[in-house]
Amino acid sequence: MQALRLKSGEPMPRLGLGTWKSRPGEVYDAVREAIRVGYRHIDCAHAYGNEAEVGQALAEAMASGVKREELWITSKLWNNAHHPEDVQPALAGTLRNLRLDYLDLYLMHWPVAVRGQAHFPPGVDEFIGPKELPFTATWKAMEDCVNAGLARHIGGSNFSARKLQTLLEEGRIAPAMDQVELHPYLQQTALIDFCRRHGIHVTAYSPLGSADRPAVLKADAEPLLLEDPAIAAIAKCCDASPAQVLIAWALERDTAVIPKSVNRGRIRENFEAGALRLTDSDLKEIGRLDRHRRYLDGAIWAPPGSGYSLEWLWDE
Ligand code: A2P
Repeated sequence: MQALRLKSGEPMPRLGLGTWKSRPGEVYDAVREAIRVGYRHIDCAHAYGNEAEVGQALAEAMASGVKREELWITSKLWNNAHHPEDVQPALAGTLRNLRLDYLDLYLMHWPVAVRGQAHFPPGVDEFIGPKELPFTATWKAMEDCVNAGLARHIGGSNFSARKLQTLLEEGRIAPAMDQVELHPYLQQTALIDFCRRHGIHVTAYSPLGSADRPAVLKADAEPLLLEDPAIAAIAKCCDASPAQVLIAWALERDTAVIPKSVNRGRIRENFEAGALRLTDSDLKEIGRLDRHRRYLDGAIWAPPGSGYSLEWLWDE
């Protein structure tokens, strides 16, 4: 399994199993199968609503011989726990659900704060604006989680280069990771370059285009990444599947990548993409597909009157 080397010196397996949209009732089998096949990196989040079941699968895998140190477990602080005093209790809840003593990586899911139970999508009056509760205040509490031994590394998710820069300037602990939407339609080359210059690693989420997103997060007539003709042609040439080409492309770019699947055959197929090598001409061809297309445009986190805007969110 290819690994990233974090600034701390620790290796992080580059190919992980995504669990967003994996329903309770499905995710237990998915995690057990993934670990059986060889995955050692599982990407989780409180907001996915399935951590207890992931935890059951992790506990059983460890009871049958997989060591905790072999596993890389990421989870994420949800937007409704950004008040500094809420951060450690939120992490403690995640650890309880996952049945772990520590996380390898804890990410701030979005640089956006909401209050209370936070409906989905949240109402305008449920937001806590960035002036009232800056993400830097939340970051300090995440740093305390590292000092308390509850998280080995911390980072952001959906963070722009500008916001990472702010964390680098104002934080005591530099972010180890930014997890962002990343695929051939949204190649984010400038963000990756920024991260590389500052020793921050990048994880690609929605690497297959996340076509199983809830309708509220979908636009009309979206282009389907898995059906892109150029990807299909490369897949045919390599005797691989389009999903494998997309995963191999993410690995070629030295990012981590977390394709989600709850299907045994596809979980295995995605893992086997780790052995696929793309040629320079494949990479050039895929490079041409960039169209800055966000499937997750963040609009639900920036409605008018919320104190947030898409310009603020993405800094572009
Ligand atoms: P399933 O869970 O039934 O396998 P993303 O990782 O970008 O969020 O994409 C996840 C979506 O892609 C899910 O609908 C998932 O369905 C599907 N998927 C995962 N692996 C493959 C694959 N190898 N081939 C086709 N579709 C896949």
